[in-house]
Amino acid sequence: MPTLLWTGTISFPLRLMLNMGNIIAWITGNARDSSAMKRRMKGGYNGEYSDYVRQYDKSASFHYEKISDSLMQNIDCRGKKVVDVGCGTGILSLNALEKGAAKLDCVDLSRFMLEKCREKIIAKGYSAELISFHEGDAERLPFNDATYDVVLFNMVLGMIPNQQEAIIELARILRPGGTIALSAHGPAYYREAIEAGVKAMNLRYFLGHRFEYWPRDENGIKAFFRLAGLDDTQTSRMTWVDEFENGGKAFDFFASSTGLWWHHRLPPEIRNKETEKTRAYFQRRHVTEITSDVVFAFASKK
Ligand SMILES: C[S@@+](CC[C@H](N)C(=O)[O-])C[C@H]1O[C@@H](n2cnc3c(N)ncnc32)[C@H](O)[C@@H]1O
Repeated sequence: MPTLLWTGTISFPLRLMLNMGNIIAWITGNARDSSAMKRRMKGGYNGEYSDYVRQYDKSASFHYEKISDSLMQNIDCRGKKVVDVGCGTGILSLNALEKGAAKLDCVDLSRFMLEKCREKIIAKGYSAELISFHEGDAERLPFNDATYDVVLFNMVLGMIPNQQEAIIELARILRPGGTIALSAHGPAYYREAIEAGVKAMNLRYFLGHRFEYWPRDENGIKAFFRLAGLDDTQTSRMTWVDEFENGGKAFDFFASSTGLWWHHRLPPEIRNKETEKTRAYFQRRHVTEITSDVVFAFASKK
């Protein structure tokens, strides 16, 4: 079962409220159904609750490019068989191809994100024979054991309900001697935006729902790797603050990069109004700074 209590950084009153929501949701059963959680996540990144995800590259690529470049700094892809799990619009996938990957498989839960990834890779002129695209779940990948030299997982772990299962699955498809490289949402990731987003939303849409997002620190990820039988684990952490022209632009970044997946809990007819209300809250409260807190982790398999 996914961790019940909130694992991120947030002010005490909101932590209390989120945890109360999580506990109520657990009692009512809503917090235990991880397939339903993944359907909601998939819906968010398919643009079912908001159109914002269509602006993912326009508003948020600067952020994921920075993370991808850091993750890939010491990863050798030349001539290697690589998989990018949770590939999104392909920011890291393109990075792997530019670094000489011989074969690349891209996987994402969201068909919309996967299509964007395919379009961008084909538009860059890479041969379709080298690359394949799979709509799939990180917890159950459609690949044989010990297939890949390099397994990539960029900013996906925090959105996965059964994180240990996902890491075991990534370790399963890694060949002995291969490398796994992941970046993950650290505890303070987006903390100002989460705080403002929760405060702007009507309380009744929080209580009784669990907060389906699980940031992790270095120790948490090391423990996942250890239990998955991975070796030579190395971690590092990078924290910085992105500054935006105004609160509206900060909200656009936050909403595009997340697809506002928690808006599944709003009745469809009020989603756009709630989104506008939250954007106006960011604007009014001058929420112009958003913290990024990213944990990088690397390991190999014996
Ligand atoms: C924040 S985006 C990161 C995308 C990409 N890795 C990047 O760096 O731009 C998270 C992505 O993970 C995907 N995702 C979420 N849960 C997943 C799961 N269980 N299996 C596969 N992909 C998943 C989402 O659809 C989304 O495209």
